Amino acid sequence: MSDESTMLAPPRGMRDFYPPEMALRRRLFDVWHAAARRAGFEEYDACVVESLDLLKRKAGEEIVDQIYAFQDKSERWLALRPEMTPTLARMLAAREGSLTFPVKWYTIAQCFRYERMTRGRKREHYQWNLDIVGTDAVAAEAQVLGAAVNAMDALGLDARHYAVRFSSRALLGDLLASLGIAPAHHAPAFLALDKRGKIDDAAIERLLAAEGVDRDCTRRIFDLLSLDSLDAAAARLSADAPSLAGVRRFLEVAAAQGIGELLRFDLSVIRGLSYYTGIVFEAFDTAGKLRAIFGGGRYDRLLADVGGKPRSGVGLGFGDVVVAELLTDLALAGQAAGGADIEVGFMEPAQELPAIRAGAAWRREGKRVSVACHPEKAKVFFGRVSKSGAAEAVYIGPDDVAAGLLRVKNLATREQRDIPLRSVSD
Ligand code: HAM
Repeated sequence: MSDESTMLAPPRGMRDFYPPEMALRRRLFDVWHAAARRAGFEEYDACVVESLDLLKRKAGEEIVDQIYAFQDKSERWLALRPEMTPTLARMLAAREGSLTFPVKWYTIAQCFRYERMTRGRKREHYQWNLDIVGTDAVAAEAQVLGAAVNAMDALGLDARHYAVRFSSRALLGDLLASLGIAPAHHAPAFLALDKRGKIDDAAIERLLAAEGVDRDCTRRIFDLLSLDSLDAAAARLSADAPSLAGVRRFLEVAAAQGIGELLRFDLSVIRGLSYYTGIVFEAFDTAGKLRAIFGGGRYDRLLADVGGKPRSGVGLGFGDVVVAELLTDLALAGQAAGGADIEVGFMEPAQELPAIRAGAAWRREGKRVSVACHPEKAKVFFGRVSKSGAAEAVYIGPDDVAAGLLRVKNLATREQRDIPLRSVSD
């Protein structure tokens, strides 16, 4: 690539949004906003710059290594947020005296991670976050998932296209305990096991060995991960284990919510963030070609960890990159929305003010109108607007003004209708 073309590209991993990409992003954001509101979530936001310390405390080593950090002129360590959840925890803890829990909050946050670039992974993405904080009830898991499924429906995606794999760290913790692994080692064990498939088993064995888990035990943990049903996992636990009851209740509530058919129990879903303590889930395309579409889970201790009261929460992050790839692969991404309903052009400077007045009048009626900025030949005008996506076009020449008529042309059917210039010139 030449130096000049390098200068014209955005920084590696960052995106420019030209109108067609922006149209898809807008559609996605509209769907996210509508689905969140339909499910009773309130919107919040925060600055993309966060204190590095807050972000580092909880994320899990992989994300910590990916943070874009910098020092400001007062030598404070700051960072571009890699995710929204620590910021959410901070905001809730800061106002917990005046908030009514449980809160149901959502946001669309731009996030930055210095990741190795692969399909579906950029160094910047927008992430729709839905969180319910202040309840232990697994109905909250079903509600955040229900809202995400609702958004997928609105995009034309259903059980043919994706499934939600889920597990429970609490359940896996009980299974680890049944192998004699002390609770203190569970969190590091989760993060090691999450790397399965990304690094080889020998490397995972070494990570677990650092937690005092011997080789034999590691083998038994790997065996656990291949238990392929909830019943098989349940057979290893006492029938009244609360973690088991939690998962069973989740399945019941999810079925009532109408999302049961999308769920697949899968103990190998662990997730890379260290704050999760309960049910965890990730949505994948059924063709198995893409990275996770969205993911989330329950966190019991995050608010207490940032200085708030211990309150349990659950939430998910749904990025814009993978879903856009899925929509494109399935030819569901749609056409870019046109910029205007009506394009207005004129032949000579003398027709500019009538053109501007007509445009202003149609805008008052709520139409999207684009008026030319200078005179142009009819051929140039119609050549230009035929590609604009507009439904109608009006070209004003001296004869039209003299006759007091505007010719509104339907660009698809080529039909014309005349309207009095007077009707749009007051
Ligand atoms: P996460 O799994 O790290 O979770 O990210 C959630 C989603 O964001 C992913 O499933 C993916 O759609 C998108 N995503 C993440 N990283 C990238 C990337 N580099 N490029 C493109 N898309 C990406 C979290 O961030 C949690 N904070 C979610 C959460 C909210 N948990 C509870 N509340």
